[in-house]
Amino acid sequence: MSESNVATAWPTKLDEIRVDYPEAPPHVPKDRIVDISFAMGNVPNDLVDPYEPFQWLNGQDVPRLLYNKPAGGGLGAIAGGSATGNWVVSHYEDIDRVYCDNDHFSNKGTAEFQRLIGETFPSIPLGLDPPEHTPYRMFLTQFLGPATITRVMEPMIREVLDEMIGEIADKGEVDMAWDFARVFPVRIFMGMMGFPKDMFDDFLEWEWNILHSGSLEKMQWALKSVLDFLRGFIAEKEKNPDQFLTSLIVNGNIKGRTFTDDEKIGMVWFLWLGGLDTVAATIAQMFRRMALQPEIQTMLRNNPELINGAVEEFLRTQPILSSARRATKDFEWHGVQIKAGDSFSCLNPAGNFDPTRFENPREFDPTRKGNRHFTLVAGVHSCLGGHLARRELRLLLDEWFKRIPEFRPKPGADTAVFPGLMSIRNLPLVWDVK
Ligand code: HEM
Repeated sequence: MSESNVATAWPTKLDEIRVDYPEAPPHVPKDRIVDISFAMGNVPNDLVDPYEPFQWLNGQDVPRLLYNKPAGGGLGAIAGGSATGNWVVSHYEDIDRVYCDNDHFSNKGTAEFQRLIGETFPSIPLGLDPPEHTPYRMFLTQFLGPATITRVMEPMIREVLDEMIGEIADKGEVDMAWDFARVFPVRIFMGMMGFPKDMFDDFLEWEWNILHSGSLEKMQWALKSVLDFLRGFIAEKEKNPDQFLTSLIVNGNIKGRTFTDDEKIGMVWFLWLGGLDTVAATIAQMFRRMALQPEIQTMLRNNPELINGAVEEFLRTQPILSSARRATKDFEWHGVQIKAGDSFSCLNPAGNFDPTRFENPREFDPTRKGNRHFTLVAGVHSCLGGHLARRELRLLLDEWFKRIPEFRPKPGADTAVFPGLMSIRNLPLVWDVK
């Protein structure tokens, strides 16, 4: 990444982000209209705490609802944004309401990239509201709850970690983002779903094109490829069931009712989308921070009992996603008129550092109590893979500190990070081999 692409100065006041946007819907007050593209994870920075530039948006002097001018292009609308702009929610209490108040805020149709190729099945469970959402959520929870993760997944996670850490320990270096973070969770996820190992490269290529290419043509190609593959795989599991998650889903039932084809692809597709690179991005940022702040490594190495709390702090301080919702009806909120269908973007990077909720929010404190952050959202859509993700992160730290001494960025390494899902592509780390 060239240095000129890495931001070193960001807006710090409302006046610096206010913009004209005559096309805004008439019910939006002009003085609320802003451009917050700097906070959407598209601009890299090289701060130890890469989310720092967005914190001020939770300030008491910042209006409780701003309205973001759309960044251009219509693809954002598919991910849950809006082609005409969206309300920006940046204070803890308000974000919490948007996620938890299903009467006023809907998730229907969110993350339905499949519409780009004319598919009409919903992403299940994310793209459904309660009460429709509830039975699917309960059905899937039985496979992803903490007891199942301990019994079924933990041995597999430890085995993969043992192999992967064993391969690098004596080398004294690894590209933590490309060769480790990108590979480890995907191997676990594919094993859990029962996907063939040789699909690894195709899966990552398809996913990258869907989430990060920004090209309609590439998205459509990747969507068609993945859905063709998943439909074929589902048909195979119907014929030859096994003990892995895809098979358990497609041969499952809710109160005796078996699933339609749309329900099967809706569940398997969304797990595929949600499970692949979220943990990867989190691990890359977690290791970047520890490399830049070695005192965190020392603290965790000397006090392994802090690892669980540290994982929550890594999650809180690295909210790689910000979620969207839509208003279900007209209502008034914080002195502005909301219209049914208005889109809301919740800025988790502002909510997770809100001083009205978190004492010394910028401090990395693994002993923090009541660490209820938004990185895995809140409310009915809270991340179903959260138990698996947390377990992967905890076991990784546990196994890593047993075998790898203090590590640091390889001299000359580019440590700039996109503070979002795309995060960091390469992170060369080195350590001394005895
Ligand atoms: C650190 C890693 C992860 C992060 C940061 C993350 C983040 C999120 C977020 C923000 C949402 C809510 C989106 C919304 O409300 O619009 C979500 C939901 C979801 N995630 Fe994750 N996720 C992670 C790992 C995973 C994994 C590994 C899986 C699969 C095994 C997964 C499966 C899901 C599912 C199925 C939902 C939908 C839940 C529902 O609608 O009831 N996630 N995740």
